[in-house]
Amino acid sequence: MKFILAMCTLGVSYGADLTGNWLTATPNGDGTLRKVWLHLKMQDGRITGTIRATQFFYTISNSTGGPEHFTLTAVMPDEGRERRATYEVTLASSDELLVSLVRNNTPATPISAHRVPDGDGALPARVTMPAPRKVADNGLARTPPMGWNSWNKFHTRVSDEIVRGVADAIASNGMRDAGYVYITIDDTWEGERDAQGILHSNNKFPDMKALADYVHGKGLKLGLYSGPGPTTCQGYEGSHGHEEQDARTWAAWGIDYLKYDWCGARMLYSDADEQPLYQRMGEALAASGRKIVFSLCQYGRLDVWKWGPQVGGNLWRTTGDISDRWDSMERIGFNQDSLAPFAAPGHWNDPDMLEIGNGGMTDTEYRTHMSLWSMLAAPLVAGNDVRDMTPAIREILLNREVIAIDQDQLGKQAARASKSGDQEVWVRELMGGDTAVALFNRGKDTASITVKWADVGFKKSPSHGRDLWLHQDIALSGPVYTADVPSHGVSLLRVRK
Ligand code: GLA
Repeated sequence: MKFILAMCTLGVSYGADLTGNWLTATPNGDGTLRKVWLHLKMQDGRITGTIRATQFFYTISNSTGGPEHFTLTAVMPDEGRERRATYEVTLASSDELLVSLVRNNTPATPISAHRVPDGDGALPARVTMPAPRKVADNGLARTPPMGWNSWNKFHTRVSDEIVRGVADAIASNGMRDAGYVYITIDDTWEGERDAQGILHSNNKFPDMKALADYVHGKGLKLGLYSGPGPTTCQGYEGSHGHEEQDARTWAAWGIDYLKYDWCGARMLYSDADEQPLYQRMGEALAASGRKIVFSLCQYGRLDVWKWGPQVGGNLWRTTGDISDRWDSMERIGFNQDSLAPFAAPGHWNDPDMLEIGNGGMTDTEYRTHMSLWSMLAAPLVAGNDVRDMTPAIREILLNREVIAIDQDQLGKQAARASKSGDQEVWVRELMGGDTAVALFNRGKDTASITVKWADVGFKKSPSHGRDLWLHQDIALSGPVYTADVPSHGVSLLRVRK
């Protein structure tokens, strides 16, 4: 080492060697660090090894360049798919590597990496898988959970202050009384584990118990996010190997809901391990001494709706992430038809959180979003800044007649009754013999949509109907009902046989 340093000082090439374990650690701004480990081996002018970055663990498949500057291609298999990342690395000195992730052919500003001991950042051992057992039903979520989640609007910027403000707003703007009670903090609340392995919140959440007390004081409930992997999607601490300990910590804080996200587990496990890993947390929650809603988030892989209840899940995501665009909401929402048989009180299909009010769709489209999710008996988890809503958005989220469809106690998810081009009719059976009928127009122009009562299971024409967006009773006579529905709009009815 002394020899190399001496050579550098003299301005002589020091025989570049990138071999070693390198770490970049960038402050997240909340007391935690975003870490990337590059475990490199340089031989014959080429680099091999691994790169661990947030939720990913890549193997370097190719390197070009040298001797002091390389472009590394790194790959990670993921259930038939290959994730790829490209990094540029430059040896700045024998002790410093400059690393930049390349996106769209453009390298990001280089970050300094320093040598760390060899085992640093190594993947932990896999946990022991439990024998398959049914986790007892926790008795929660008899109707689809309703509430708010930080992710869609605030992403990594969520903080104690925002959550308190949201709780204040929900408790006073009518949302709580309409049923929106679970306030969930998504990814990036996590801090570090202490010497006993106890997980703490990061600087954005100075006192999670105090926050839970505050939220409870408003007549609301508090939810958190974690995952079965060593890290979460954003590279924060996951619950891997600490399931029981974390469940106890959350119970002590007063947590009422857990969203458990698969992301970071992919660096150690394959899809076949999902059920036992979710069961581990299902059992840990059951043993925690507190009733905690269990929300599974693994994007609908491996037919989760068939085993979600078995591991204690109250809801399970059926899709990848929604975004605030008509085509995303439409693709997800209208694709849920085949899952109707799997929804029941206590166990719900979750086509992801609401984007209503986030600005990427029109109010008409947001009414369709709200109607479709309610027909689907989907969890109604607002994802907007509820502290600051337009009257139109408020009205959409607070339409009690539509919420009543979502929350109907029979718990039967709607099915598509007919489709003709861009026009679809969906039907949902309700408690007490009523039926919800939604006439959706997915087309670009206003369309006249006709429901034939005989086609939607009515032996005779219904006697009474109500339009749930116009809040008006409607005259029904004869074997059909026809409505003019605007582009991307809906006419949502509740009818009585
Ligand atoms: C995944 C989930 C999202 C959100 C983010 C947070 O993408 O599907 O809903 O929780 O992780 O990192």
